[in-house]
Amino acid sequence: MTDQGFSADEIDTSRPHPARMYDYYLGGRDNYEVDREAAERVIEEIPEIRFAARANRDFLQRAVRAVVRSGIRQIIDVGTGIPTSLNTHEMAREIAPDVRVAYVDNDPIVASHAGARLTGTPDTGFALADVRKPESVLEHPTVKELIDFDRPVALLLVAVLHYVTDEEGPGQVAGTLGQALPAGSQLVLSHATTDFHPDGLPNVLKVYRNATASMNPRPHREVLSFFDGFRLQEPGLVQVPLWRPDGPAMPAEEIAKTGVYGGVGVKV
Ligand SMILES: C[S@@+](CC[C@H](N)C(=O)[O-])C[C@H]1O[C@@H](n2cnc3c(N)ncnc32)[C@H](O)[C@@H]1O
Repeated sequence: MTDQGFSADEIDTSRPHPARMYDYYLGGRDNYEVDREAAERVIEEIPEIRFAARANRDFLQRAVRAVVRSGIRQIIDVGTGIPTSLNTHEMAREIAPDVRVAYVDNDPIVASHAGARLTGTPDTGFALADVRKPESVLEHPTVKELIDFDRPVALLLVAVLHYVTDEEGPGQVAGTLGQALPAGSQLVLSHATTDFHPDGLPNVLKVYRNATASMNPRPHREVLSFFDGFRLQEPGLVQVPLWRPDGPAMPAEEIAKTGVYGGVGVKV
C-alpha cells in the first residue's frame, strides 16, 4: 500500500531538501551533495543541531511508546521523514504488535524509500500528500483504509509544522486534522523555535530559504496554540530532551540550546 512510481530523475537534487538535511544531521546516507553542503552551513552556525535532531527523534520514540502504552492502536505519522531506525511502526510494535500506521509525507524521496522500509509489512501504508492541504491527508485512500476515525488515533506532527509558513496557516492545519479525530485521540507534536537563540538565527533561516521548504521557527506560546482542543500531558510543552527522559543524563549545555519544543496532548 504505497503511492508508487517515483524514479530517481523525479527526485530534485538541485536544491536542498529538509528531509535529506535532517537525514544528514542524524548521520544517515540518503542525502546528496546539495543537502550536505546546506546542512554543513547550518552546523557551522549551530553545531548543536545534530544533538537537537537526535533529541527530536528520541522524543518521537518516547512519545510513540507512551501513546501506545495508553491504549492507542492507530497512528497517522505526518512528515514521516526518510526511514531510519527505528521507524514509527517498529517503535509502536515493540509495545503492541497490532498497531496500524499511516505514513504521510510530500517528499518524493520519502515515497521512494517507503515501499522497502515502511510499508513492507501488514497494516502500514504510505500516502504522498501535503499537510498544507489537510483534507488531502484525511481523504487519502491509504489513510482512509488504515485508520478508523471512530476510534482514538495518535496524530504525529513531529518536526513538520515549522515548514508551514504563517500565510499557509499551521494553526489551521493542526485544527483541521485535530477536528477529524474522536475524543481520546492524541496529538504528538514537535516544532523548531529560536527562543534559545536571541539573534533569531538569520543565517540558518537563509539556508532553508534556498531549500524546497522554508524554516519557520515559532515561540512557545504559538506552538502551544497548536494544541487547541487537546489537554497537554505532563510535563507540558518543553524542549524535547526534557520530555520524560528515560536514558542516561544528557549534557546540560546541549539541552539548554535545543531549539525544538515537544509535547503530547489528549483530545477532550
Ligand atoms: C525534519 S523531518 C521530520 C521527520 C520525522 N517526523 C521526525 O521527527 O523524525 C520533516 C519531514 O516533513 C516533511 N514535510 C515537510 N513539509 C511537508 C508538507 N507540507 N507536507 C508533508 N510533509 C512535509 C519533509 O519531507 C520531511 O520528511
